Amino acid sequence: MTSRLQSLREAVAVSPQNIPLLLIFAQVCLDELAFGEARAAFDRILQSDPAHVGAKLGIARVLYLSGNTSEAVVRAEALTSADPGFAEAWMLLSRLAVAEGDRTLATHYYQKAVKLNSSLIDSAIELDLQIDQVAKPAVPPSGPAPDTDSETWEFLGQPEKGNEGLPDVLKPEVSFANVGGMERIKEEIRMKIIYPLQNRALFQAYGKKLGGGVLLYGPPGCGKTLISKATAGEIKASFISIGIHQILDMYLGSSEKNLHRYFQLARENAPAILFFDEVDALAADRKDFRESAIRTVINQFLAEMDGSIGSNQGILILGATNAPWHLDAAFRRPGRFDRIIFVPPPDETAREAILEIHARDKPLQRFDVKALVKRTKEFSGADLQAIFDIATERALSRAMKEGRVVPLTTEDLLQASKVIKPSTRAWFESAKNYALYANQGGFYDDVLSFLGIR
Ligand SMILES: Nc1ncnc2c1ncn2[C@@H]1O[C@H](COP(=O)(O)OP(=O)(O)OP(=O)(O)O)[C@@H](O)[C@H]1O
Ligand SMILES: [Mg+2]
Repeated sequence: MTSRLQSLREAVAVSPQNIPLLLIFAQVCLDELAFGEARAAFDRILQSDPAHVGAKLGIARVLYLSGNTSEAVVRAEALTSADPGFAEAWMLLSRLAVAEGDRTLATHYYQKAVKLNSSLIDSAIELDLQIDQVAKPAVPPSGPAPDTDSETWEFLGQPEKGNEGLPDVLKPEVSFANVGGMERIKEEIRMKIIYPLQNRALFQAYGKKLGGGVLLYGPPGCGKTLISKATAGEIKASFISIGIHQILDMYLGSSEKNLHRYFQLARENAPAILFFDEVDALAADRKDFRESAIRTVINQFLAEMDGSIGSNQGILILGATNAPWHLDAAFRRPGRFDRIIFVPPPDETAREAILEIHARDKPLQRFDVKALVKRTKEFSGADLQAIFDIATERALSRAMKEGRVVPLTTEDLLQASKVIKPSTRAWFESAKNYALYANQGGFYDDVLSFLGIR
């Protein structure tokens, strides 16, 4: 752990003005409780970019973690009044309110934060805030839906209905044929997942251990979910998708039980792919009061994966994440997520496939998909969708003026593509720093070769 801090420290010494690097460094300092260094790094960011809200929030966090609550409150409040949509700042205010013993206010802030950004949902905080709500019994997820309309239940997440609280078991109709391009990934999945599964005996004869999980990582919106589903379709396996937040959202006491039921469900429906989305959520700040609660869930998860609780014959565990750097190293040990696949932004063939899918149900005139493909390098699947959204809006306003259906043109789409910043770029900025300065055991080699650095 400290070696990572050390290599980041050296990297910062070499490029002291690299803001994304400073941000990572400061975050790691915070994780390692090196508050002084974290503070200095955030200050340095603000020197070159005085408006950097990430750094401002960072300083407020440092103050909070080092016990300087009142100054932290002042700074966090300044951030939310400048930008009421700043979810992370509301979240910090919530924690600060807990620190000051005001749980009602903490609940209020927490609700604001998760309403703005649902990925901030945190079952441990919810559990903690709930402690005071004596009237509410912990209901196991399979039990009846809580009979209340209070907002609190809303953000706790309702237990799933149907299938006795368990997620759906799908038999995906999509296969690799429905995934455009991405030939290298398909080949990797065949080698790492499909062939071993189809040639169990052969693999065992060579002493290859089966089981364990495969981790897909890469920028958001680039096909991790799609390719996982298609993998299930390809081998005619059941597909069970579980958001980690779904597990953590439940009343914490039963998180472990839920997790076990998910694995059991997969075992009953073997061959099955058990897909864990956003696995990085399991690695949420472990340094604060939630540590023990999350730890228990993580340990349970690892034990289920290892097969030490039940046999994992015929079940395949896939995990997906946009933030692999948040994932605990414990997850990557043999028998766990020991095979890693990088899912890059869609290549030209994939972009063409994605664009054709979006074009299908639109009034389009002479659609030159190739022209659009050329102009959308670095775009994610989600970005491509956004192009259609923007262009459609424009065509619609024209249509309303003219009072008739006006077809969408390639030109509209090209125009729209200019206003969208490809979202994968920001991801690569972070990933590059991790790859260069915290490339644990070559984890990020594929990112480096994608960037042409190696
Ligand atoms: N190669 C591809 N062929 C066809 N469609 C694709 C391809 N890649 C991505 N898409 C489409 O782009 C969209 C985003 O893909 P998907 O949801 O699988 O991304 P993701 O990596 O799981 O994103 P996130 O990290 O946000 O969960 C989907 O609508 C998907 O169908
Ligand atoms: Mg996804």
